[in-house]
Amino acid sequence: MQITLAPMEGVVDHLMRDMLTQVGGFDLCVTEFVRVVEQLMPRKVFYRLCPELKNGGFTPSGTPVKVQLLGQHANWLAENAVRAIELGSHGVDLNFGCPAKTVNKSKGGAILLREPETIHQIVKAVRQAVPKEQAVTAKMRLGFDDKSLAVENAQGIADAGADSLVIHARTKVEGYKPPAYWDWIAKIKQEVNIPIVANGEIWNQQDALNCQQQSNCENIMIGRGALALPNLANVIRGEQEHMPWDQVKDLLVKYSGYELYGDKGRYYPNRVKQWLGYLSREYTQAQVLFDQIKRLRDSADILQEIQR
Ligand SMILES: Cc1cc2nc3c(=O)[nH]c(=O)nc-3n(C[C@H](O)[C@H](O)[C@H](O)COP(=O)(O)O)c2cc1C
Repeated sequence: MQITLAPMEGVVDHLMRDMLTQVGGFDLCVTEFVRVVEQLMPRKVFYRLCPELKNGGFTPSGTPVKVQLLGQHANWLAENAVRAIELGSHGVDLNFGCPAKTVNKSKGGAILLREPETIHQIVKAVRQAVPKEQAVTAKMRLGFDDKSLAVENAQGIADAGADSLVIHARTKVEGYKPPAYWDWIAKIKQEVNIPIVANGEIWNQQDALNCQQQSNCENIMIGRGALALPNLANVIRGEQEHMPWDQVKDLLVKYSGYELYGDKGRYYPNRVKQWLGYLSREYTQAQVLFDQIKRLRDSADILQEIQR
């Protein structure tokens, strides 16, 4: 079973990837999306979203990282995909799932699921441009408004030469509301001939098993679940017990150090509150800590509370 850490814009940045891949159990990470407009994006944009490129495309603990691109212009996506690979990305992923209004308004992300032909042309252009030995992959939802084009979209992606496809088992309209329709992944999988990775609503080992059974997929991607339980990947693999709170607290302190002394210090208060929000799902102590720091704005004060 391969477990991929999901891309999460504004949440899973390189520091979080570093933390979670140190905890372990992940085979691959995907970056937050690089939004491609009609230009070859400057190298600094790639380095900002994926500093691991300066480390051969690996997190400090050695997990490969793949850059994700989002956009609507096939040729520009292709040029930028080539740049991502040249800079050291391990393959390149195309985002056909982002629900954000601003992104959809400019015809990027999930809105493209209304146009299977456009998606097909994008994947084809990128596949043709990127060296064969590098994977070109895509990530889609089941549709925009409904699931009527789910199979057609996946087939268009496969026929264009994608190496694999992650399916987040919900439409754009369904947002992040449970359930995830894992059985739909199985339906799609029957109709396409490339490896499929199942994604959505995996919070524990039992969810992972149910998802694998219902989707008929061995490989999975996890996002929010890994933020709620940092060693979820190893728990799913049956290699570790639920991480005790003391260890989570150590991670929080370590994360604080990274955030405060790295280049992203100004984001720290929001980022750590956001993570505590996810952790609260698994740990009552996280909720208590969140309540203690939620009104604090000063990083040093927040860190003091965490270390208390
Ligand atoms: C805050 C947030 C940001 C996200 N950003 C991205 C993104 O940049 N690219 C992408 O393909 N999916 C993105 N997603 C979707 C996740 O990768 C994943 O498909 C979704 O959260 C379902 O998986 P989960 O239930 O394991 O979290 C994001 C999700 C969330 C909650």
